[in-house]
Amino acid sequence: MKKLLITGSSGMLGSSLVYEIGEKYNIYGIYRNHRNPDLKNQFKADITDRKKLEDIIGAVRPDFLIHTAALTNVDTCEKNFELARATNSLATRDLASILKSLGTRFIYISTESVFDGKKGNYDETDAPCPINNYAKTKHEGEIFVEQLCDNFVIIRTTIFGWNRVKEPGSFAEWVYKSLRDKQTIKMFTDVIFSPITVNTLSLLIDRLLQADFTGTLNIGSRDSVSKCKFGIFLAELFGFDKSSITPISVDGFKFAAKRPKNVSLNVSRAEGILGPLPTVEDELGVFHEKRRL
Ligand SMILES: NC(=O)c1ccc[n+]([C@@H]2O[C@H](COP(=O)([O-])OP(=O)(O)OC[C@H]3O[C@@H](n4cnc5c(N)ncnc54)[C@H](OP(=O)(O)O)[C@@H]3O)[C@@H](O)[C@H]2O)c1
Repeated sequence: MKKLLITGSSGMLGSSLVYEIGEKYNIYGIYRNHRNPDLKNQFKADITDRKKLEDIIGAVRPDFLIHTAALTNVDTCEKNFELARATNSLATRDLASILKSLGTRFIYISTESVFDGKKGNYDETDAPCPINNYAKTKHEGEIFVEQLCDNFVIIRTTIFGWNRVKEPGSFAEWVYKSLRDKQTIKMFTDVIFSPITVNTLSLLIDRLLQADFTGTLNIGSRDSVSKCKFGIFLAELFGFDKSSITPISVDGFKFAAKRPKNVSLNVSRAEGILGPLPTVEDELGVFHEKRRL
């Protein structure tokens, strides 16, 4: 069995990878605070510690790396650029440089937020223009991967799903819990995205591990939706009262970090390799089927 190392094996995507494709590989995980109970081989490490990464990679010698670990709280990144850079950019650089001599195939999970959100329908030839520290540091990670790796895929995506290890706190879980508990929530009509579940993305990543492709790919739903419509669709699917959702504009909403508005993705390149990607409706169906709360 091939050896697959997953950074962030306790995160929403990392734990989904373990759940969805765990049987097919000899999986090793790196976590920082939350041990994944479904995974036998795990290392507790801070990815900003290069020496620790060298020791782990020297011991495992993985055939594949899926690098999901990141400082994902956008407002924390805005308030602490050094920590964001150390975690999202420099740790990615270190992983890429340590793995170079092993020929490990490197899958780097990046974000649709590398774009400024002014245009929408971004394809891989559009120039990134990050507008907050989270996006800047994730984009810098992309550049290190491109510079240091020969065998890699950079995946620009936007994900949703259920946390399998950590407390529920993701965007879709927040919408679900709020509507279930009959709380009123405000949702943006002018933030547009192309979300895909961590479950579907895990299965697509599995295929990319085997694929003969190096470069950058957008992977999301083949259509796009506003955050507000997403909430309304979710309410309809689960039988919640959609009038609990108040539509608002992101303009004037006070976040520490600026949010890009239209980060919808053109996924044609990925579809050329992987076949048709699912729609938002398909993916909400997956979220419903896999419900954990
Ligand atoms: N969530 C989204 O909406 C979204 C959208 C686009 C792209 N992405 C990208 O997708 C990837 C996965 O996101 P996610 O939502 O699954 O993330 P997540 O649930 O927030 O999990 C982050 C993971 O990174 C680990 N981690 C963070 N800092 C670390 C450090 N210094 N050392 C070691 N491990 C560290 C965490 O470990 P512990 O929990 O053990 O501390 C956790 O396993 C990220 O690269 C993110 O940038 C996410």
